[in-house]
Amino acid sequence: MPANTVPATPVPATPVPAAAVPPAPLLDPAAAPAVPSLAAAQRRSAELEAAIQADPARFRVLTGDRPTGPLHIGHLFGTLLNRVRLQDLGVDVMVLIADYQTITDRDSPQTLPADVLGLVADYLAAGLDPDRCTIFTHSQIAPLNQLMLPFLSLVSVAELSRNPTVKDEAAAAGPMSALMFTYPVHQAADILFCHANLVPVGKDQLPHVEGTRVIARRFNERYAPGRPYFPVPDALLSHAPLLLGVDGRKMSKSRDNAIALGAGEDETARLIRGARTDAERTISYQPEQRPEVSNLVQIAALCLDQSPAEVAERVGGGGAAALKRLVTEALNERLRPVRARRREVAADPEYLRQVLAAGNGRAEGIADRTLAGVRRLMHTVY
Ligand code: TRP
Repeated sequence: MPANTVPATPVPATPVPAAAVPPAPLLDPAAAPAVPSLAAAQRRSAELEAAIQADPARFRVLTGDRPTGPLHIGHLFGTLLNRVRLQDLGVDVMVLIADYQTITDRDSPQTLPADVLGLVADYLAAGLDPDRCTIFTHSQIAPLNQLMLPFLSLVSVAELSRNPTVKDEAAAAGPMSALMFTYPVHQAADILFCHANLVPVGKDQLPHVEGTRVIARRFNERYAPGRPYFPVPDALLSHAPLLLGVDGRKMSKSRDNAIALGAGEDETARLIRGARTDAERTISYQPEQRPEVSNLVQIAALCLDQSPAEVAERVGGGGAAALKRLVTEALNERLRPVRARRREVAADPEYLRQVLAAGNGRAEGIADRTLAGVRRLMHTVY
């Protein structure tokens, strides 16, 4: 391809037309489009699901995780299996290990290599196939990170201050780094460097995708009028239930309440034996009234591919002890092949490094082409 042509967008624009949004004047926060309502996002996701089934090759997905520790069953049922589903349908899935997003919250960088390779092992164990998807890290893709500069010019400080993640961080104790403040812009570079048009998210993350949509639109309006260079990506809402940890709070790597994919069967049994329940003997599925018991019912339901109501019915008057036995058995059974695969790949760190090196190489090639296109559109080719 000659250096002075804009590379073809690898993924065509989203087949389902997005709702018409009037162009926002650059840096006029009052004109920025509002985050769509949850109902609108759900409708849109249903349309997208239909479009994916009809023509998966038109979609490129960008998704990722911070390498902060081993992934757990909340990740498996919440996001990993959905990525595998999209991969198996024939969607081009890019999986980012967001190591530059751990700089701010990491005391000791020494554990980073092990955490990164652990994530690769978790991905492969869940069923991501390195021949059909791309696993890569921020820090190795220089041209991706270079997109951050032009993107920073497209948003105002006031807009960033209103981003929910940034707001949460600002409300937390301690000073916020400038890097943390600009995470939403970095995330736009993550998504747009590969012209991804689909970003699977939970509903709490819709504003992140909206920030990327704003940046894509503004770049197109300013530098590529009439011939959009970046796709305006869509959020694909997940249907997955949020799992609670064994203490009844949100399952989280940092709270010591999670069942890791790599945990052994005995450890799983021990964690579930210690899980919080309540005093009522008959098991039912009532997430609002009985969050802890319902969470265990939900885990068994996901593993057994049954509805939570069916599982609750099955345990009935057996009480918490019978429920815990069922959950332990179902979970260990469901995770057995995942764990076997994890043990196999984790025993071969050289293979994990090769998978990552191949993914980084592919991502870098894509990022190089995008940066060349951006330079040309911005008239910074000399
Ligand atoms: N912020 C995400 C997390 O906390 C990781 C991430 C970084 C990401 N860049 C992204 C996710 C782009 C989706 C799209 O896990």
